[in-house]
Amino acid sequence: RYDAVIFDLDGVLTDTAHFHFLAWQQLAQSLGIDFDSAFNEQLKGVDRMGSLSRILDLSDKQFSHDDKLKLAELKNRHYQKLIAHMSPDDLLPGAIECLSSLRLAKIKLGLASVSKNALAVLESLEIRHYFDVVVDAALIKHSKPDPEIFLTAAKQLNVSASMCLGVEDSIAGISSIKSAGMTAIGIGSSSVLREADMTIPDLRTLLHYISLN
Ligand code: G6P
Ligand code: MG
Repeated sequence: RYDAVIFDLDGVLTDTAHFHFLAWQQLAQSLGIDFDSAFNEQLKGVDRMGSLSRILDLSDKQFSHDDKLKLAELKNRHYQKLIAHMSPDDLLPGAIECLSSLRLAKIKLGLASVSKNALAVLESLEIRHYFDVVVDAALIKHSKPDPEIFLTAAKQLNVSASMCLGVEDSIAGISSIKSAGMTAIGIGSSSVLREADMTIPDLRTLLHYISLN
């Protein structure tokens, strides 16, 4: 039995991973940079400035730190337009069932997203109250794949890492969970999320793999 389950947000509980992709694509296109969904797999779970750097590396132009700050801000505006009308209808299948069953079973719940928009999304989805701990992304120094955010969640939950299960849709996120010393469940394909202990298509089957008593 696990003492805690620590969820990623974007692409796990709701499909905002797709909105991040659209917003980055919109920004990249305005700069004449092209990237596809395979490249996007490398951006998932990586913080805003880190993702921007990876995209700008595809161009032969040089960008100053000031340019980068402005571009990051612009991407965030595109993204915020896309999430402006989110509601509980945008939860992915199985999300509410998982959160409520885990809570009933007294398994602690944490949220580990490096997104500075995570709290706003949680509130639009009306699921903030399920979580014992929501790590503040502003306090995280090292984005996924560094283990910092999952270790911070475990510490704040007062649970040892080995008793935590992490749930992620990104390559960087799975690495973060594994280097934190936790068990990693990947949402998506095992050919992409190679480091995961197990992969499942979506949250509808998560509870089959967690003993609730
Ligand atoms: C999550 C997403 C990334 C996103 C990052 C920062 O990790 O998976 O795609 O770039 O958060 O999000 P933010 O909302 O702070 O720009
Ligand atoms: Mg994600």
